[in-house]
Amino acid sequence: MVYHLKLIGYPIKHSLSPWIHEQFLEKANLQGTYTINEINPEDSFEEQMNRLKKEQIDGFNVTVPYKQAIIPFLDVLDETARKMGAVNTVVNKNGRWIGYNTDGIGYLRSLESMYPELFTDKKKRVLLLGAGGATRAIYYALDASGFTTIDIANRTRASAEEITEAANSSAQTEILSLEEAEKHAGNYDLIIQTTSVGMKPKQNDTIIKSDNIKTNAIVSDIVYQPIQTKFLRCSAERGAMTHQGHTMLLYQAQYAFEIWTGKKIKMDDMEVKLKDILEGR
Ligand code: ATR
Repeated sequence: MVYHLKLIGYPIKHSLSPWIHEQFLEKANLQGTYTINEINPEDSFEEQMNRLKKEQIDGFNVTVPYKQAIIPFLDVLDETARKMGAVNTVVNKNGRWIGYNTDGIGYLRSLESMYPELFTDKKKRVLLLGAGGATRAIYYALDASGFTTIDIANRTRASAEEITEAANSSAQTEILSLEEAEKHAGNYDLIIQTTSVGMKPKQNDTIIKSDNIKTNAIVSDIVYQPIQTKFLRCSAERGAMTHQGHTMLLYQAQYAFEIWTGKKIKMDDMEVKLKDILEGR
């Protein structure tokens, strides 16, 4: 079998997904292609989807701005994607399109690959900074995996409330302002920065100061340009252990590839290679 895979979104010319999935195909010893299908928001999305339905495509990834727009074109929506209201992976099963969201599980896999001990004590206290789409994915995944305290701090309180209301979670969640989060950061074992704050070209920004972070906390940042954000750097200077955002990219792709092919690819040297690519940009 030859796999025909794609990415749809806009703008996606600089996406790393083709590189990642071509490596996966090679590692799995599978024949296939992963190509970019940029869809200009000025074009009719419906027409583009009708055209794609006629192609012999095995699966595709969906990125901004179409993660919600794709939903009416699906035949089946996986439970996690339904809860999130966003899809980033579609598999074609005998002409039926099934939508998934691999962001949350991908994030957890990346964290677990680096800090497996975190997953043996789900009573560890977690703080999420932000309340956007990525936060939602990570919140649901942490809750589903059994973490019992997951607080959220965001500039806009209502967005954080919306996440907890929609989640129907079993975790205890308090909503904080960013000022409160900065002050009480020492209460948390795991702090996850889920906004775009600190991304190039504003790499000198940090969402909160790291001054009160516990010295043995794990601090994670989903921003991957730069790989080592100022927030991670300052947290490491306090003694915290860090987790960089590019690993999430690899593991959400790993889960997508598994949905398409049934093969779970080992990362081996891919993390280092991806780091080199990103640092060369
Ligand atoms: P995505 O869906 O891609 O995660 P998003 O929905 O735009 O992106 O979410 C961005 C998150 O980053 C939000 O939590 C946003 O805070 P608000 O809800 O208050 O808008 C947060 N964010 C973005 N820029 C920020 C800034 N300069 N300071 C604080 N928070 C910021």
